[in-house]
Amino acid sequence: MKKLYIKTYGCQMNVYDSARMADLLAPLGYAPVDVADDADMVILNTCHIREKAVEKVYSDLGRMKVLKAARGEANGKMLLAVAGCVAQAEGAEIMARQPAVDMVVGPQSYHRLPEMIARIAREGGVALQTDFATEDKFDSLPEARGVEGATAFLTVQEGCDKFCTFCVVPYTRGSEFSRPVAEIEAEARRLVEQGVREVTLLGQNVNAYAGAGPDGEATSLAKLIRRLARIDGLERLRYTTSHPRDMSDDLIAAHGEIGKLMPFLHLPVQSGSDRVLKAMNRGHTRDEYLEIVERARKARPDIAMASDFIVGFPGETDADFDATMDLVRSVGYAQAFSFKYSARPGTPAAAAVKQIPAEVKDARLQTLQALIAEQQDRFNRSCIGKTVPVLFDKPGRRAGQAVGRSPYLQAVHVEGAVPLIGTLHKVTIAALTANSLKGVLASSSIGAEKALAF
Ligand code: SAH
Ligand code: SF4
Ligand code: F3S
Repeated sequence: MKKLYIKTYGCQMNVYDSARMADLLAPLGYAPVDVADDADMVILNTCHIREKAVEKVYSDLGRMKVLKAARGEANGKMLLAVAGCVAQAEGAEIMARQPAVDMVVGPQSYHRLPEMIARIAREGGVALQTDFATEDKFDSLPEARGVEGATAFLTVQEGCDKFCTFCVVPYTRGSEFSRPVAEIEAEARRLVEQGVREVTLLGQNVNAYAGAGPDGEATSLAKLIRRLARIDGLERLRYTTSHPRDMSDDLIAAHGEIGKLMPFLHLPVQSGSDRVLKAMNRGHTRDEYLEIVERARKARPDIAMASDFIVGFPGETDADFDATMDLVRSVGYAQAFSFKYSARPGTPAAAAVKQIPAEVKDARLQTLQALIAEQQDRFNRSCIGKTVPVLFDKPGRRAGQAVGRSPYLQAVHVEGAVPLIGTLHKVTIAALTANSLKGVLASSSIGAEKALAF
């Protein structure tokens, strides 16, 4: 067996791609390992979203170069590959900056890895593959997936046509593409056969999903969810990440009608200021966003809201930032990610004259994160004493612990009578700990229908 070490940066779509690269390389004799030290092949599956993410890749590549050299020719060569969004954005420049790199492969062409490896073994040299051919990729991936645990990601949509002025994704992932319904259903069924109970449907703009249905017609995400909910043994469905512009009535209604669809909505807004939203080319106003949240809560009153925010977008004034703080207060988030604006090469906002000084961005980020932390804490505290269904996914860090997720995506751990991984139980939330909620089992085991009842 050869040892394969994959390090994943960035979003869940990269997590899915890393898993698929491992599936693809398994027939070639590669088995995943947790450390890079004596790996036969190292893949860095990279993210280009912010400058920091890219710097991290280059510093890790420096470390890999040392490992590669230390290994020496005696034990055979360590192959070093860069995959993901930095590979797509920077291509051959990566090899120029770090000559230890043997392969550069973009997110839409990693199905070519086996032939790239074979070519290097045969002819030596390096290999570069950064074509956009999404259909090819999914058609060429093996059906079998090596899954562990009761939850899995399933990419249903890729790419983005929205062109927010700060964002590299439309350039690194290409234009919007949706996989056909039948292909997704088949993959979901296979996951369930392997013990998966919860599937998270992924896409850069997952609710722009418009895959071909059995009749060839474009199928919405809501319709896809309704179909997947019919799969026996698949107890829970989630989707991420959504764009406010694609939040259809049908999808909102699905939250009220489909018990298996979890009450959690990650709906990034980025800013609470109409002026900034416009400059970002988000295509919606603050009020339109708030109205979507209101409708989602009407359909499913306990729905937990999540979002992403950017502070210090070019031209953002104190008043604009206050509008963001105000929006956060009006929504009340269960969880949210916030970032300092990072100017990305080639994006329109990077060329704007009114860049915001670093110390202003720092101060705004701190203020926003304090409010978000307070809201998250309040949300978690509001769950104490409640009994919620928890899907147990993995053993806890300490012996005798099991960890699962609540419907609202909170990590919940129980101790003592540890339930089987992959089973759903009613759990009464007893306390908050640093990283998760502490619960007490309230039932032996439940099916999805029963989980719905409370
Ligand atoms: N498709 C999703 C998000 C993709 S990127 C959406 O449209 O919401 C994930 C998050 O990274 C974004 O929501 C945004 O908050 C952040 N992000 C993207 N580009 C950024 C940049 N240039 N600087 C800082 N944060 C950025
Ligand atoms: Fe980036 Fe905007 Fe597309 Fe999201 S919708 S991936 S933020 S361009
Ligand atoms: Fe990063 Fe690419 Fe995802 S830039 S956030 S890995 S789509």
